[in-house]
Amino acid sequence: MPDNFFDTHFADDLDRVDGRAKVTGAAKYSAEYFPTNLTYGVLAASTIAKGIINAIDTKAAEKAPGVIAVLTHQNLPQITGYQSAPGDDKTPPYKKGFKIWEDNKVRFYGQPIALVIANTLEQAKHAASLIKAQYTKEEAHTSFEEAIKKDKPLEGNPYKEYNRGEKDAWKSAPVKIEATYSQPIEVHNPMEPHAITVVWDGENKVTVYEKTQSLKDTQRNIMRLFGLKEENVRVISQYIGGAFGSAFNTWPHAVAALIGSRKTGKPVKLVLDRTQMFSSVGYRPAAVQHLAMGATQDGKLVGLLHEASANTASYREFTEGIVNGSRSLYACPSVTTRYSVYPLDLSEPTWMRGPGEATGSWALECALDELSYALKIDPLQLRLINYAENDPERNRPHSSKFLKDCYQLAADAIGWKDRKQEVKAIKEGDWYIGYGMAGGIFTAWRGGAKVNARLAADGSLTLQTAVTDMGPGTATAMTKLASDVLGLAPQKIKFEMGDSNLPPGIMQGGSGTTSSLGTTVNNACVTIKKKLTELVKDNSLFHTENIHEVKLNDLVFENGYMALAPDRTKRISYSDVLQRAGMQQLEILEESTGYGDNKYSTFSYAAHFIKLAVNPLTGVVKVQRAVSAIDAGKIVNDKIARSQVIGGVVGGIGMALMEEAVIDHRFGKIVNNNLADYHVPVHADIPQIEALFVNKPDPVLNPMGSKGMGEVSYVGVAPAIANAIYNAVGKRVRDLPITPDKLI
Ligand code: MOS
Repeated sequence: MPDNFFDTHFADDLDRVDGRAKVTGAAKYSAEYFPTNLTYGVLAASTIAKGIINAIDTKAAEKAPGVIAVLTHQNLPQITGYQSAPGDDKTPPYKKGFKIWEDNKVRFYGQPIALVIANTLEQAKHAASLIKAQYTKEEAHTSFEEAIKKDKPLEGNPYKEYNRGEKDAWKSAPVKIEATYSQPIEVHNPMEPHAITVVWDGENKVTVYEKTQSLKDTQRNIMRLFGLKEENVRVISQYIGGAFGSAFNTWPHAVAALIGSRKTGKPVKLVLDRTQMFSSVGYRPAAVQHLAMGATQDGKLVGLLHEASANTASYREFTEGIVNGSRSLYACPSVTTRYSVYPLDLSEPTWMRGPGEATGSWALECALDELSYALKIDPLQLRLINYAENDPERNRPHSSKFLKDCYQLAADAIGWKDRKQEVKAIKEGDWYIGYGMAGGIFTAWRGGAKVNARLAADGSLTLQTAVTDMGPGTATAMTKLASDVLGLAPQKIKFEMGDSNLPPGIMQGGSGTTSSLGTTVNNACVTIKKKLTELVKDNSLFHTENIHEVKLNDLVFENGYMALAPDRTKRISYSDVLQRAGMQQLEILEESTGYGDNKYSTFSYAAHFIKLAVNPLTGVVKVQRAVSAIDAGKIVNDKIARSQVIGGVVGGIGMALMEEAVIDHRFGKIVNNNLADYHVPVHADIPQIEALFVNKPDPVLNPMGSKGMGEVSYVGVAPAIANAIYNAVGKRVRDLPITPDKLI
């Protein structure tokens, strides 16, 4: 990387507007609020995976120093949201969800069974350790491998078989492959643990500081739980230290803190420890996938079969789009997909880093690689042969698809021409060198959002909306966008967020924040420009021979001034416009709706290319280079976009080589429930990562021309690594993670 790399690449880019607050510690996370009379909550958890709590002894805990209250299912106050609705008894258990302390049942190991509230964290921890429960243990089923052999999967709509073309067409193709790919449970493990600080004002009004990707969903969940009015539930989430999908739900620990604080009348702070992060806030389900493909001798796909099974919890049906990518990424006339989900006595899974597609692409993109060897066709060439110009699932055009550009950019950058199709072809010392690639797809979408925009008489702009940011840099992207559209220096723009009292923004997830909120911010700036134009339409400064009443298109907006396009020396600052009009400020509430046209299919795309070295004696894999080229439409702010891709690739390296929750089925417990034993990549594991963007606008999805990018940056990284390992040493590992023992 040249010395001036950053200057030349990001000259026009904005640094993170909250970067300084984050690195100096000024940024406040949910556990960093200290309301007066703050008390501390610590949970005691079940030590069995399934059964009944016969008795729970809280006496010692209640008598321990500093303890204010101990809550269990035995002294649960009446909770509005816990009352069963008519017909509830007919709801199957896997659709019921889990309400903490609703009964004496244990559904998973580590289920919170009691909450201790004390004056200090240490007192609460000590008292929680004194709680003793007596159980009637039932046999817990926590093995996914056994479940898929013996159990029946759930039935219903999400599991409908998909078919197009001819069934089993792959079987009669001249060249075919068939393989099964598996992966363990993976846990989000953001740096910041989940935390909540609850402050009640009486029994019917509450403020919570909560790690959440969706302020409005959290607010609604709390409203429903306690039967409260919207204006009486305020959710604040100013900063989030990562989430990866773990922070959509209002999890049992948060509900416990809310109930406990309401009962004691004192503010309660509850922070999960790392161990609890493995049992309480979701995970990516384990999956086994069977892939079969058939092709003509010249590489044209004839038929494809993708059957996926994954786990869920006994009390929650969680489904995701595991097989969806296989229907639309490649042009294949005959496709069958099946999806099955098996309930286990584990806590519930949830969305995680490229949910669905990341799992599906692990199988699909490895299988294509296997097919490329069966055909003796370069795997990149194979993808080009089967490139889908239109969406083969829905038979309609894409709003934009520049995946070919992605392939080209990434292949050139990594030096794909140096790759050899034969395995074990390149050796450097003791290490075999391999190249691998894979594609990625993720739905691009746009939802509705509201933004309050206020241009003040001093020429500064304040944007306000109820959105949170788990790390991608939402405030930065929105500031950059507003700066570009309104023609105002970023330093004059303030983006206020993280508070449910602000106009409803959008949840942060599914790579849709910039697309959704950006539309509203863009439109708000356009509205302001129109209003400013209205205010100067009679101003003689802008009158010319042809212009007697100035219109929006006659003007340029730059650097805080509106100027006449043909003669930019004729200009007036926004501040002057407002002052002359006698206005303190110009304030608007902009609302934009989601994109719901069915004329186009909307996806983001990625091409991930990997170069790595494998030591055949030790089985160690060193990723040497990762190049990811992304079609995420027009890039709003290159610098933070690049960080998204780097993060996605780091996560993908974790998925490929390290991440695995290990369950001891005797206890139904995740045993590597800490960051010493659950491995994630550290700096030494991470090579040079190059993020490249096609940067061509999508003409349909939103006015910026952007598409989502966070998730697609992750989708396909793990198979690209597996494919490179095969290329290096000729070992096809179909079971994640690819740890050294599987390579020797
Ligand atoms: Mo993402 S898994 O929608 O946080």
